[in-house]
Amino acid sequence: MLSLQVKIMVRILVSLLLLIAIIFIGGCPALTEKKENNLPNSGLLALVNQTCGTRYYESNFPVDTRLFEHPWLVQFGYERELVVNYVFQGLLIHSKYVLTTVFVVQFQDFGQLKYARVGEHNTSTNTDCEKLSLLEETCAPLAQSILVDEVIVHPDYNMFAQINDIALVKLRVAAIVDGTAVAPICVNDDLNYQSSFLLVASWCGRRETGLSLVPKQYFMKPISPYECQRLMPRHSVSFANGMFCIVFDERHTNSTELAYEPNLRGGSGAPIYTVHDGNRILLVGLLSYGPRYPAKLHEPYVIIPVAPFYDWMTGVIEADREKHMYNTLI
Ligand SMILES: *[C@@H]1O[C@H](CO)[C@@H](O)[C@H](O)[C@H]1NC(C)=O
Ligand SMILES: *[C@@H]1O[C@H](CO)[C@@H](O)[C@H](O)[C@H]1NC(C)=O
Ligand SMILES: *[C@@H]1O[C@H](CO)[C@@H](O)[C@H](O)[C@H]1NC(C)=O
Repeated sequence: MLSLQVKIMVRILVSLLLLIAIIFIGGCPALTEKKENNLPNSGLLALVNQTCGTRYYESNFPVDTRLFEHPWLVQFGYERELVVNYVFQGLLIHSKYVLTTVFVVQFQDFGQLKYARVGEHNTSTNTDCEKLSLLEETCAPLAQSILVDEVIVHPDYNMFAQINDIALVKLRVAAIVDGTAVAPICVNDDLNYQSSFLLVASWCGRRETGLSLVPKQYFMKPISPYECQRLMPRHSVSFANGMFCIVFDERHTNSTELAYEPNLRGGSGAPIYTVHDGNRILLVGLLSYGPRYPAKLHEPYVIIPVAPFYDWMTGVIEADREKHMYNTLI
């Protein structure tokens, strides 16, 4: 009897404290803002702006990417009967969130999506190293395979029209962001942004050769909706929410040997990016879908831009951050 009364009292006290806590947090937005600025990689941030998209190499963009060239590229692990297969990719936009397409998060052929591997480069080595000179080499920390906590599919995703094909993967623990081997990519939030060139990066390749060991990187060029639809006569392409089409740039399409022909098989969720003022890598879109394998060299790929979904992404991350703050106070 007495213990029940005590319990009720404790409960009332807890609710009161919670209420006070909520009022306190609600009343002090300036305080939390300040905390954010002091801890740019704290994991409680919305999109990490100051430290995103940093380029390790000043030079051009080779097809075979180099160590630390794409520290935001994340590979996904699917598990079935304790066998984990890593395929496809997403982008680290926050220490706890990876952006990708719905196709990637709903892919079932290798079992359930279970891991996000952050800081990966050469998929055939445990420790990734790169020679600096004959005698010197630099090595990256081990890749982090982090359990997937939650998959958040865009509420307006439509599988039949293939529109709003975007999802966030929440990691169970924050990735260790060191700024070199693991770093977030900058996300474009300008609907009218015009980039002078576009690239794609992905672990990809033909069936005969298998997926590339390190991400491949290709220059791509946009084509008009009319041209895109003309090149995909058997498919009705939707251009809702700024979707657009790209094809390989000429510099990749003049190879005479099939083995060197680029192929984006495995490229789902790959970043379409450019270099923004200030020499940062800026995410412009995600590779949503492409031609049926084996694709011909001039066939188009359909891209979902990220700018129209910027508020959705930050909203999801912010809402979760607030929930997390209340939880830790109880
Ligand atoms: C990040 O920086 C861009 C450009 O400076 C700005 O437009 C955008 O609002 C910033 N985003 C956040 C979340 O601070
Ligand atoms: C990836 O690692 C393997 C095994 O060490 C090596 O043979 C291969 O050359 C590496 N690939 C690249 C592109 O560095
Ligand atoms: C073909 O590709 C090479 C690079 O692989 C480039 O140097 C050359 O200019 C290209 N030729 C044409 C005609 O585009």
